[in-house]
Amino acid sequence: MAFLHNAWYVAAFSKEVTAGSPFSRTLLDRPVVLYRDEHGAVVALDDRCPHRFAPLSHGRVIDGALECPYHGLRFGATGNCVFNPHGDGKLPSAAAVRRYPTRERYGAVWIWPGKPELADRVPLRDFPFLDPDHYFTSEGYLLTQANYQLSADNLLDLSHFQYLHPNTLGSDAMARATLRHADDNDKVWVCRQTSAELLQPFVAQAFNVAPGKRADRGLDVRWEPPGLLTIIVRVRETDAPLEATRVGISAHWLTPETEASTHYFFAFGLPREMGEAGAALVQNSVEGLMAPFRDEDLPMLEAQQRAIGAREFWAMRPVMLSIDAGAIRARRIMERLIANESAAGDAGVSDVLQRVVVRADVEVGQ
Ligand code: FES
Ligand SMILES: [Fe+2]
Repeated sequence: MAFLHNAWYVAAFSKEVTAGSPFSRTLLDRPVVLYRDEHGAVVALDDRCPHRFAPLSHGRVIDGALECPYHGLRFGATGNCVFNPHGDGKLPSAAAVRRYPTRERYGAVWIWPGKPELADRVPLRDFPFLDPDHYFTSEGYLLTQANYQLSADNLLDLSHFQYLHPNTLGSDAMARATLRHADDNDKVWVCRQTSAELLQPFVAQAFNVAPGKRADRGLDVRWEPPGLLTIIVRVRETDAPLEATRVGISAHWLTPETEASTHYFFAFGLPREMGEAGAALVQNSVEGLMAPFRDEDLPMLEAQQRAIGAREFWAMRPVMLSIDAGAIRARRIMERLIANESAAGDAGVSDVLQRVVVRADVEVGQ
């Protein structure tokens, strides 16, 4: 299985990348070192010195350049060697490491693993509810030993709440919920609507539903390539007016570490007008969801990956159910984008991906 390279991926949360200490993370099978230069800007380089291949992330940042921990070559933000402490100090032209374009937005560092010259042609996707100027935000991270598409399957089919999360997120109303799905211009949308559901205490409390009261819950999942999801949850007590609906919105970003492991970043945002209550609620949401994600989803994803091993997903002839429509659509879109990227070769970003980007503001299923 190949990766889509000409796309923006989340490499880290902003707070993980500090000025003093270089930070290593494997992204799409490549070790990358992330650090901040003297201006605070994030730099992303291959985490491998071109001299004897020492990990640069074990080095230190001096005057904005990264010093190799083994023999002291220093590399600047462009990836070129800027200091050689040996001999006449001449800078060997071959002494350079690959530099990756980066952006910093929505509390995250984004990286472009593809052709650097194409990065400016593709804007970041929108996650306005994570703009720290207007929203309280809180975030969580899990490393999962499973392919990123298994995580996308998981998020695009929340019927599993009933079976995998029976005492935390789910209820027996999930499997009989109304299910709608659509795709538009390579965005996939899946919406599940329950009615008169008895919510688990954690969910009821988060959405201000009185204990024992039945509620209607809408779970609206939106997916965009390469693995960027927004989940909007709408809850109101069944006999309450529509305007009493409470809304929770979260981002779920999937970045492949390897073919069989995934960086799962998730974040919540609530408007700053909510004051202290909003700040506390985003924090509680992440803390409350970390337990089912870590203790229920993660073991299942990893068990699936062990069962699949190195086999190709479709070669295993997975059974198709009505609940799979969105997830299968997302898989097919990724397969097409990866094939087009490969076919485009040096031409760069495929026409299809550009088309997606141009219409990134299109809202489906609103
Ligand atoms: S391995 Fe980096 S300078 Fe020698
Ligand atoms: Fe789950």
